[in-house]
Amino acid sequence: MRPTLADYRHIASGKVRDIYEIDDATLLLVTSDRISAYDFILDTPIPDKGRILTAASFFWFDHLGVPNHLDGGPEDERIPAGLVGRAMVVKRLPMVQVECVARGYLTGSGLSDYNATGSVCGVELPTGLGEADKLPEPIFTPATKAAMGDHDENVSFEHVVGEVGQELATALREATLDIYGRGADLAAERGIILADTKFEFGQAADGSLILADEVLTPDSSRYWDAATYQPGAVQPSFDKQIVRNWLTGPDSGWDRKSETQPPALPADVVDRTRARYIEAYERISQLSFDDWPDA
Ligand SMILES: Nc1ncnc2c1ncn2[C@@H]1O[C@H](COP(=O)(O)OP(=O)(O)OP(=O)(O)O)[C@@H](O)[C@H]1O
Ligand SMILES: [Mg+2]
Repeated sequence: MRPTLADYRHIASGKVRDIYEIDDATLLLVTSDRISAYDFILDTPIPDKGRILTAASFFWFDHLGVPNHLDGGPEDERIPAGLVGRAMVVKRLPMVQVECVARGYLTGSGLSDYNATGSVCGVELPTGLGEADKLPEPIFTPATKAAMGDHDENVSFEHVVGEVGQELATALREATLDIYGRGADLAAERGIILADTKFEFGQAADGSLILADEVLTPDSSRYWDAATYQPGAVQPSFDKQIVRNWLTGPDSGWDRKSETQPPALPADVVDRTRARYIEAYERISQLSFDDWPDA
């Protein structure tokens, strides 16, 4: 008999995920179907999004070849009935309080920093770069975790050294760039550009780094379609563009500048977005989402 969620203590909820305590050493990370856009959690969930993102994390943990926090497979018996396919049983680790971002392309807060200072998180870049340009090489652009509702703040490598020491900071940078490189190479083979991504690491008893949290999902990464990549303009998001276009288009009646909660999504936008998430997962993993376990 599988447990029920009521058997576990709820510890925290992020925008998209809910975290429960299985026991002192183990957590259950449950990914919901919630979707965010323009910093709002939308009222309309995308059916199966939580399962698709969980499938993506399992795929990557499996293929990256670095130590990770998984403590069981997608059908582990500690996963409550009804949540199989959208939950991960993980080792509860002391987390390094640094958002470990790698960027291979210049966009978002990286571009803003570059435009203001010529560098990103203290990493000097050549002049003349613009929106969505590929960087000469991937860079480590750490951020501090903001409280719920706030934006993470980009910080320099030196700042990370001040927080966690030279040795751990260096290990974080190395691991982040190494894993980003592995992910970006595999994605590229399948026609997807992994523009940037964020990792979180925990530490084993001996201090070594363990890749934790979700990994290389569309929620923690920017995926672009290599077939339509064109630097010079903001690139369409492989997964969220349908939602963004509808929200900012004439049919939604929503004004982004109003800073009010966006309206509910129409069924066809939901359907097309769901299909897009599945396409991203299937293209990268070369697996069929139909085969992914369902509660
Ligand atoms: N193996 C682990 N052990 C302990 N904590 C973990 C582990 N893996 C992930 N976490 C933590 O679990 C939390 C995941 O929560 P989630 O991402 O939903 O929320 P958040 O980061 O607070 O908010 P959001 O991502 O919505 O901005 C994070 O605080 C992350 O650091
Ligand atoms: Mg998070």
